[in-house]
Amino acid sequence: MLKQKNEQNRSAKPWLKTLKTVALLGLMFLSSGCALDGFQSTVYGNGPVARMQAETFWITVVVSAVIFAVVGSILAYSIMKFRVDGELDKDAPLPEQSHGDPLTELLVVFISVALVGIIAVPSINVVFKAGTLPEDSNPLVVNVTGYQWWWRFEYPELGVVTANEFAIPAGRPVKFNLESGDVIHSFWIPRLGGKMDVVPGQDNWLWLQADEEIARGKMIPGVVKNDNDGREDAESASLSTGLLYGHCTEYCGDSHAFMRMRALVLTESDFMAWVDGQKEPAPQPITDSEKLGKELFGQNCATCHTQNHDTAHPQPQYPDLTHFGSRSSVGAGIMPNTHANIKEWIGDIEHIKHGNKMYEEGKLRGIDFEFTEQELNALADYLLSLK
Ligand code: CUA
Repeated sequence: MLKQKNEQNRSAKPWLKTLKTVALLGLMFLSSGCALDGFQSTVYGNGPVARMQAETFWITVVVSAVIFAVVGSILAYSIMKFRVDGELDKDAPLPEQSHGDPLTELLVVFISVALVGIIAVPSINVVFKAGTLPEDSNPLVVNVTGYQWWWRFEYPELGVVTANEFAIPAGRPVKFNLESGDVIHSFWIPRLGGKMDVVPGQDNWLWLQADEEIARGKMIPGVVKNDNDGREDAESASLSTGLLYGHCTEYCGDSHAFMRMRALVLTESDFMAWVDGQKEPAPQPITDSEKLGKELFGQNCATCHTQNHDTAHPQPQYPDLTHFGSRSSVGAGIMPNTHANIKEWIGDIEHIKHGNKMYEEGKLRGIDFEFTEQELNALADYLLSLK
């Protein structure tokens, strides 16, 4: 019987080996997805808040690693030293029993308190620093509203409203006032730091600041750059700069995973130029296709989507599209803002972003027909012309 079992074990071993290899390879692939300097890295901060949070993280990692190494070593030593060699003798007497050693216990308590202190002091320090604007800092104020599933950005002092993609000046603190238009969201731009929940009926805020080195045009690995068209160049993204990725980090319904945003980091003068551009009315269409697109937009889309900062009929619950063509992404940061993607977005929105509020009862909201290919082309042409 015993012999049979051993044979079974032996024959099972190649499988076990294969399983282990597959598991190891799987782990390797999984861990390769965890690049430390990725677009949404929290450990390579590009601003003072992100850096002080990352420092606290590393202190915690080092302290935890030391605890793991010491406790793990003692455990491994005990297992090796006191294991039973050969058959277990059930009649053997118990080893000598003791009731602890006060000195060792005091020492362990002291070490534990010291370790907690090493983590707690910088943590509390960061909590207060992140919750207080730097003195004499003249912050830029941005009111952020989270909606299912996109972000509205309003610059109350500058008269600018935009959606999903917003600009900030490098080297200056930005105070984000966070509101929700529906459910709980969470605002997070990992490379700048954060994050903060966006809760209905509660005034949360946080301040973040981007380093001057990452203003558009400078080169820092891992930070995405806009190309001249204002569209993301995925090929060179890992080597270029200017655009930081953000994400909603509180589960908020069907398309939570598609509730993204992009922060465009600009020099102070480029930022003021951006503000001037955003305050301009939407450009007039030039080509015939753009003209048709504008007409279609006016008839079918303008009920919800405002343009030209229409203060008489404000519709804050829908993205403002005045300068849609200047944004690098469509659908709240989920795909590059290209002609083909806009057509796909309008033509097949439920498939791209499930639960999208632009889609109801099996069709585009408030639209009883399907756009023809020509009409989709015209709408895409017009939307892209809105620089
Ligand atoms: Cu908004 Cu998750």
